[in-house]
Amino acid sequence: MTDQPVPDIRPDVPHGARIWNYWLGGKDNYAADREIADAVSAVFPEIVDMAFKSRQFLTRAVRFLAGEAGIRQFLDIGTGLPTMQNTHEVAQSVTPEAKIVYVDNDPLVLAHARALLVNTTPEGVTEYINADYHQPERIVEQAREILDFSQPIAVLFMGVFGYVPDYDEARSIISRVVDAVPSGSYLALWDGTSTSEAVVRGAQAQGELGSPYALRTVDEIRGWFAGTELVEPGVVPVTLWRPADVEVGQAEHIDAYCGVGRKP
Ligand SMILES: C[S@@+](CC[C@H](N)C(=O)[O-])C[C@H]1O[C@@H](n2cnc3c(N)ncnc32)[C@H](O)[C@@H]1O
Repeated sequence: MTDQPVPDIRPDVPHGARIWNYWLGGKDNYAADREIADAVSAVFPEIVDMAFKSRQFLTRAVRFLAGEAGIRQFLDIGTGLPTMQNTHEVAQSVTPEAKIVYVDNDPLVLAHARALLVNTTPEGVTEYINADYHQPERIVEQAREILDFSQPIAVLFMGVFGYVPDYDEARSIISRVVDAVPSGSYLALWDGTSTSEAVVRGAQAQGELGSPYALRTVDEIRGWFAGTELVEPGVVPVTLWRPADVEVGQAEHIDAYCGVGRKP
């Protein structure tokens, strides 16, 4: 799947994956991306911390899914540019035979996937599909060539739905994928929440520069898990989802909420 042709990369048009890469300290971004990223962090400096803390949630969630939950198959939609601790690296470090299908619609992600989203174990499978999540049936159809849809699959939508202004449309995308996976599968996601004035100002700045990102309420994030059984601790800030270290003192505020739900 990674031999799909790479569409033109447009450095002059800001892209979500590259803006995110800049906040994560990566080098795969252009001036147009950095202009927006800097404008957001000028009014909402916590965005950089949010980028790192949400990646740490991804790592903990995938470790839980591959370990305690016994999941062997992952469908990671809205992958982002490869960074440290990508889904396949975490999953295959726990379960060497884990199969991972990545999905994104950014041409630069596709270009990097060929080199960087590759197996870390001989038994594992790591594939990439260049697709738009607005067409979930097409994603499922292509993923069926790699994953066994009679066995549980963890579906990941990590920080991807701000690009979908309509809440119900995002919910429909999620349910159309979750409907296609069997009982015992999981949904894991996080997204930005309108839980402080600063994050709202940051989103406004991003929108004014032509790259809007819709924030949700915590209840809206919870609503995306309808039909699944949330595992402990439920929908919480990304820093509070099964933190690895013993937290001492007050938990810091973060405008990003997450959860992991099991399809009954
Ligand atoms: C904020 S980044 C998050 C990346 C990664 N999931 C993470 O947690 O670090 C959002 C990602 O969603 C992808 N994305 C945005 N719209 C998409 C669409 N319509 N179809 C597929 N991917 C999309 C972007 O290209 C980008 O890589």
